[in-house]
Amino acid sequence: MKVTVVGAGAVGASCAEYIAIKNFASEVVLVDIKEGFAEGKAMDLMQTASLNGFDTKITGVTNDYAATAGSDVAVITSGIPRKPGMTREELIGINAGIVKTVCENLLKHSPNVILIVVSNPMDTMAYLAHKATGLPKNRIIGMGGALDSARFKYRLAEALNCPASDVEGMVIGGHSDVGMVPLIEKAVRNSVPVSEFLSADRMNQVVEDTKVGGATLTKLLGTSAWYAPGAAVSELVRAIAQDSQKMFPCSAMLTGEYGLNDISIGAPCILGKNGIEKIVEIELSAAEKAKLTESAEGVRKTNDLLDSVLA
Ligand code: 2OP
Repeated sequence: MKVTVVGAGAVGASCAEYIAIKNFASEVVLVDIKEGFAEGKAMDLMQTASLNGFDTKITGVTNDYAATAGSDVAVITSGIPRKPGMTREELIGINAGIVKTVCENLLKHSPNVILIVVSNPMDTMAYLAHKATGLPKNRIIGMGGALDSARFKYRLAEALNCPASDVEGMVIGGHSDVGMVPLIEKAVRNSVPVSEFLSADRMNQVVEDTKVGGATLTKLLGTSAWYAPGAAVSELVRAIAQDSQKMFPCSAMLTGEYGLNDISIGAPCILGKNGIEKIVEIELSAAEKAKLTESAEGVRKTNDLLDSVLA
């Protein structure tokens, strides 16, 4: 499998590293606009091959999309990350134009590519990718829910004082500090509802800490996180590469699912060689449904800004 990662910044490079280490792709091409930057990151990563035991060939190019030709999957991380105190939505003015151009460049050389959008505000950038490319809806995946769910599991494990491998939990809705919907009512510790172990207050704290998981790290780091986002992307790419039929919450274009239309937002998706094989409509409680609807309203508000920022 050939994978292109656009943006050799922290998230893109981490994504490339995890893909390489998991050794399921034959080739990763890193693209950046900064002269030599992607080339340097690729060379540094290739020098770990003998140490980390992978055969994946990583190359870097400066703005040369011909090198990305024939990519099976392309990950879009380009654009600016947020600074402490910023919301993801505030990045739309700069990132929308970048993401649109990147989509056009990628499609020129890889007409059958599956796009994974990471750039923020991610749900709106995924929506933009749909509108800019006209690709079938199964071939554009927004990565947010896989990351938010990993953070949800981290917070659950912290509260339960157990390994993250002992918990299961999913976050749907917008990839937004206020809009995401951690499904706490459905979270389990080894098949036992977490409500058997945690008080209502503690469960609510887990939800709130999850929602601001990205902002918490941005405050500590001075920029957006990169390890967990990179790792989350690599798992989506692996599911496609291995046609695994694994289910992840991803930002997917909804056409009636959950009563929502013409919006890309986090929903449970089964991933395989065709990208999104199926959007799964799970039973939501009235409270969960209300939160998802409210989250969609927030995403639509950001989507509505696209025309003006792209004018
Ligand atoms: C995050 O939440 C970058 O949006 C990404 O860390």
